Parts: sequence; C-alpha cells; structure tokens
Amino acid sequence: MSRINLALIPGDGIGPEVVAEGLKTLRAALPSDAKLDTTEYPLGVDHWKATGEVLNDDTLEALRAHDAILFGAVGAAPGDTAVPSGLLERGLLLKLRFAFDHHVNLRPSRLYPGVPTPLAGEPEIDFVVVREGTEGPYTGNGGALRVGTPHEIATEVSVNTAYGVERVVRDAFRRAQSRRKKLTLVHKHNVLVYAGHLWRRTFEQVAAEFPEVATDYLHVDAATIFLTTDPGRFDVIVTDNLFGDIITDLAAAVAGGIGIAASGNINPDREFPSMFEPVHGSAPDIAGQGKADPTASVLSVALLLRHLGYDAEAVRVEEAVAADLAERVPGRSTSEIGDALAARVAR
Ligand code: NAD
Ligand code: IPM
Ligand code: MN
Repeated sequence: MSRINLALIPGDGIGPEVVAEGLKTLRAALPSDAKLDTTEYPLGVDHWKATGEVLNDDTLEALRAHDAILFGAVGAAPGDTAVPSGLLERGLLLKLRFAFDHHVNLRPSRLYPGVPTPLAGEPEIDFVVVREGTEGPYTGNGGALRVGTPHEIATEVSVNTAYGVERVVRDAFRRAQSRRKKLTLVHKHNVLVYAGHLWRRTFEQVAAEFPEVATDYLHVDAATIFLTTDPGRFDVIVTDNLFGDIITDLAAAVAGGIGIAASGNINPDREFPSMFEPVHGSAPDIAGQGKADPTASVLSVALLLRHLGYDAEAVRVEEAVAADLAERVPGRSTSEIGDALAARVAR
C-alpha cells in the first residue's frame, strides 16, 4: 500500500473553494490501495489578523515533512488596507518556494478542444513554461534611499547565479528532449546585459549536451507577440522568475483563461515537498460566490500525481478535464464543476 502525506494550504479568497474541488478529484483518482492523509494549514490573511504571524518556523518545519503541498491562493482584496501589500505573497508563498527550493516553476499551457480562445483561427497551443522559481528580482534584494523625497531612489536587484540558471536550463532541456524537442530561451539580453549574458551563455553550453533539441531565443517583448500570433511555435520555454510570471498569465489567457491554468513548484531532487497551485490568485472580486473555476486546481492535482509517480492517474485527471471542457455548459458553480470532474475521474 502506498501512502501520501499531503499538506493543504487553501489560503484566501477563492483558494479554499478551488482546493476543496482539487482534493475531491485527487481522492477520486487515487488507486484503492493508496492511502491519502491530509493536514490542513489554515494560513492566510485571517490567520495573520488573528495571530500576527504569516508563517512561523514550527509550521515551516511541519510542512517539510509532507510528500507534497496543495496550495490555493493568498492575498488580500485591494480594498483591505489593513494588510500590507505583498505581506502574504512574500511571507507565505515565496517563502515556501525559497525554503523548499522550488527552482522549477512548471506552467503548462494547452488549448483543450472546445475551449474558446481570444486568438483568431484554430491555434495549436501545447507548450510548457519552465520558470525559474528561486532567483531573479524575487529575492528581495534592493533598497530605497531618500524615501518620500523628490530624490527617492529605489532599486530591486535581480539575482542570477550560475548554479541557479544552469540547473533550471538543464531541467528545461530534459523536458524538451522528452516532448517535441524544441526549447526557447526567453530573456532580454539586449538590455539586461549581465543576467542576460549569463542565461545566454549557460543556455548555449547546456545545449551541447542535447544535440537533438532545437533551440531558439526570443526577447521577452517579442515573445509576447508570438505567444499571441503563433503559439504553435513553442514546445518548452525557459525563462527567469519575473518574465515567467508575466508570460504565464498571458499564456493562460490565450489558452482559455486563468481559471484553467495549473502550476507546479517543483523541487526536482525531492529533498523537499513540491507544491502545486493554480496560476491565478485569490480573486477577491468573485470570492465566496461559488463562481471560481476549480479546473486550475484540478489540473494542478494532475501535476502533483505525476510528480509522485502516479502517471496513469494524472492522465485520467487530464482526460476528465478535457472531456468536461469539451461539453462545458456555462453557469455551473465551483462545486458542480468539481463534482463533475471527480465523477469522470472515478469512472
Ligand atoms: P487573480 O488571479 O486573483 O484575479 C485576476 C482575474 O481573474 C480576476 O478578475 C478574477 O476574478 C479572475 N480569476 C482568477 N481565478 C479565477 C478562477 N479560478 N475562476 C474564474 N475567474 C478567476 O489576480 P489579481 O486580481 O491580480 O490578484 C488578487 C490577489 O491574489 C492579490 O492579493 C495578489 O497578490 C494575489 N495573487 C496570489 C497568487 C497566488 O497565491 N499564487 C497569484 C496571483 C495573485
Ligand atoms: C504567481 C503569483 C506570484 C508570483 C505572486 C503572488 C507572488 O503572481 O504565482 O504567478 O509572482 O510568482
Ligand atoms: Mn503570477
């Protein structure tokens, strides 16, 4: 019998609504001899308001012991001025990505049959963005001088290490090797000369180990053009943390919407638990109304299953999503979609 020791961090806004449905599908997908143990961690805005803590060391240690984490979303509503901007995002989500060395932030985009896209014609969309997850401008390096004066200077330093760039680039080459054998580096080395050149040099060096993989380079601004005019040209994209954040919201929008975009924060060495979550945020504008699409959470469960070695079960979840999307009727609630997906998976 296999056992999965899963941590749940539903979080804020629509996070708990979509995680509940992801969990339903996970239970339906697992073979009968697999035992699923879940521990819920009630972290987020309310927890911070009640305790003054975002994530303490004991909780971080407890999370470390899990096989994986299913995460919803965090973040306060824009009108909630009691919560400093970024407090939860940095103190919880990014802290977990850094603490558990989630250096591969995996974000697949696929246009499922029957799903409307804002693009013209019938575009082919089936690519994966490998976004670096632990470096770039996300590390919190920088500062401000002469704050509040007309002479204020703010810097936000992007950290790029040879070690960090090489391991994510190599991961992306491996993924391309097992897919359609094309890898595109997205950066901006015409302006970001230091980091850009490190990424470019590393990319070229690692490419020599993967002679079957065709390589390509795009500046990030041009990448947004091709993501909307010719998404079929992409198989695997590798890019830094911030560019990856931006282009994956764009990728989600062209592939049917943010409600179906999944992601995995992966620690490939399995030294620490990997964490699976929708690309979207806490969506305060629709929270508590049963309007959130739980499909992104369900597809994140498929990534979780694959990461834990349940490949056939992952495929079943993805097939259930494909079948549901092909027949989607508008107006279903979050739990109606979740029930329908779980029922298809259980069949
Ligand atoms: P968002 O993704 O929460 O919402 C953007 C738009 O997409 C909104 O109109 C929302 O209603 C819609 N949307 C999002 N998910 C949906 C779903 N499952 N079904 C249907 N519609 C959906 O982004 P935002 O508005 O920029 O951010 C809101 C809060 O979430 C902020 O506090 C932000 O910092 C935080 N955030 C958290 C995460 C995360 O936890 N991973 C990611 C992004 C943003
Ligand atoms: C995402 C989010 C996060 C990011 C924020 C909330 C810190 O936008 O997961 O895409 O920028 O990585
Ligand atoms: Mn984002």
